[in-house]
Amino acid sequence: MKDNIKQLNTAHSSTPDDIAIEPRRPEFDFSGVSKYWLKDPFTSHFMNALSIVVPHSERTVIDIVRKYADSISDPKLIRDMDALIRQEGRHTLMHLRCNGLLKKCGYPAIRLFEQFQKFFVRILRRFSPPAWELAMPAAFEHFTSAISRDFIVNKTFWTGDQANAATNAAIDFTNWHALEELEHQAVCFDVFAALEKRTWLLTLALLFFWMPATLVSVYGIQFYFLLKDGILLKGKNWGPYLKFVFQSLPMLTRGAFKYVDKGFRPWRSKDIDLYQMQKQKVHNIIC
Ligand SMILES: [Fe+2]
Ligand SMILES: [Fe+2]
Repeated sequence: MKDNIKQLNTAHSSTPDDIAIEPRRPEFDFSGVSKYWLKDPFTSHFMNALSIVVPHSERTVIDIVRKYADSISDPKLIRDMDALIRQEGRHTLMHLRCNGLLKKCGYPAIRLFEQFQKFFVRILRRFSPPAWELAMPAAFEHFTSAISRDFIVNKTFWTGDQANAATNAAIDFTNWHALEELEHQAVCFDVFAALEKRTWLLTLALLFFWMPATLVSVYGIQFYFLLKDGILLKGKNWGPYLKFVFQSLPMLTRGAFKYVDKGFRPWRSKDIDLYQMQKQKVHNIIC
C-alpha cells in the first residue's frame, strides 16, 4: 500500500515561503498557576480538558508524520515535517507538566481517559487504511489551528476584558502554543494531500468521526471537571455553562467542509497578519 502511495505523491508544501516553522524551547513554570487560570471555571476547564487530550494526540501526529516521511519527495515539506515533529514534542512535554498538576488537584478519571484514548487510537490505527490513518493528524491539526485562531482573536472571551484580563504562565504557554499551531497549520494537510488525492475524505473523516470524537472528549472532560468541583451542582451556574458551550461550539465545528474543494490550501491571507501579530505578542516568551 505504501508503494502505491509513493506513486501518487506530487504535492508540495503550502506553507508560505516567508513563514519559517521554527522549533523553540521556552520554559514555563506552572507551579503557581491556579486551575482556574483563564476568565472563569468554564473557559479554564475547557482548556484543561483540551490539555488532557493533547499529549497522546500530538504523539500520534508525530508518529504518523514520521511513518510516512519516506513517501514525501518535496524537500520543503520534508523540512516542515521535521520542524512540526520537534514543535509537537515540546508542546507534549509542557502539556504533560500541566496535566501532572491537574492530577494533583484530585481528578482520578483523567488516568482512565488517558488509558482509553491510548487503547482507542491503537485499535483504530491497527485497522486503518493509509487514507484514514493520514486523516488523523490532518483532523487534529484542523482543530488545534481553529482553537489557536480563536484564542488569539477572542481575548475577551478567554481571558476577560482588558482591565481584568488574566495573565499567568499558563496563558503565556497557550499563546506560544497557539503561535506554533498557526505556524505549522498546513503541514499535516500537505502530507495528506501529497499521499491521498481524495481530500474530500478528510471532510468525511472530520464530520462523521473526528468532530464527534473531539466534542465528546473535550466537553465530556470539561463537564467532569466542573461537576467534580461542584460548579455544576449549583443551578445558577448552568446558564453560564450552557452559554459557554454554545459560544465555543462553532470554533470546533466550522471549516470542515473546506477540504471538499480540490483547490483548497491552508493559510488564508488573514492568517498571515494574525500570525505576525501573535509573533510580536509572544516575542518576549520565545526570545
Ligand atoms: Fe501542538
Ligand atoms: Fe500541531
